[in-house]
Amino acid sequence: SLLEVVIRHRLNIDGFGACEGTLACSTCHLIFDQQVFEKLNPVADEEMDMLDLAFGLRKTSRLGCQVC
Ligand code: FES
Repeated sequence: SLLEVVIRHRLNIDGFGACEGTLACSTCHLIFDQQVFEKLNPVADEEMDMLDLAFGLRKTSRLGCQVC
């Protein structure tokens, strides 16, 4: 997942991935360009439930811990 990329490369993004990918936060919220969004794996119901709580939600929003 993109969360794993952030962790593996020790990217310092304040607060990103607070729940470590357990779908208990929305701190890994990302907004993609439409062209990229269309190529991502489908959104599962569990991700959608948490994504609804994300600040600044857009049509092309995803949770980074769920994007592979
Ligand atoms: Fe918490 Fe993605 S890291 S939902």
